[in-house]
Amino acid sequence: MNGNPAMVKAWAEEFRELLRTTNNEQRTTIICPPAPLIPLLKTELADLPIQLGGQDCSEHKHGAYTGETSADLLYSLGAEFVIVGHSERRQYHDETNEIVRAKASQAIASGLTPIICVGETAEQRDNGETEAVLREQVKNSIPQEGNFLLAYEPVWAIGSGNVPTLAEIKNAHETIISATTKQTGLALADISVLYGGSVKPENAAEIMKIAGVSGVLVGGASLKAEEFFKIAAAVSSQRSVN
Ligand code: PGA
Repeated sequence: MNGNPAMVKAWAEEFRELLRTTNNEQRTTIICPPAPLIPLLKTELADLPIQLGGQDCSEHKHGAYTGETSADLLYSLGAEFVIVGHSERRQYHDETNEIVRAKASQAIASGLTPIICVGETAEQRDNGETEAVLREQVKNSIPQEGNFLLAYEPVWAIGSGNVPTLAEIKNAHETIISATTKQTGLALADISVLYGGSVKPENAAEIMKIAGVSGVLVGGASLKAEEFFKIAAAVSSQRSVN
């Protein structure tokens, strides 16, 4: 729930200027602003290789659900993706895995690709439950059909400046990938898992080197165009694993 029209305009101008100074081949770059800012970002970024997404969508198709934003509406505003199951939604809005799955299914039915977030809390981590929690979340949050991306977002790492060790990220991604394969029968090459939680320009490249990490999901650092640009450049400089 950051940003406003003035910020978006300044951000887009700075990002465009930074892009002009580089020949880096860009990996897919997606920006997921609060929904009302999607049309403005679409206009401001029209000439740049950036796609747009929402931060959440309703589990319902349409109707009397005051305050909700439908996946159909996000699509018609120009979104191609939508984040579902972010820990802040799970935590502050009591979203269960089943709700997250319903949202992901609505997204797919509307032509969007859901980015499904999973991740353990600090307490679950301390209790050695990380693998079980991730398996459970994957099993019950991913839809039966359709394309999706996953994001491993340890709750305790979001906005905290704390990042799991590289080995912990590797293990978590392996768990998520194996649970997804088991659940869907998808081939490894068709499963993409992003890492999110205190990603910064300084750690993006080393995180991208980890087997099983297909990209990063950036929160706080995305609010500054230069930080986000540096992360995008670091990610682009790494060879794609899958
Ligand atoms: P952060 O947020 O990069 O600020 O830790 C990540 C997120 O909100 O998904």
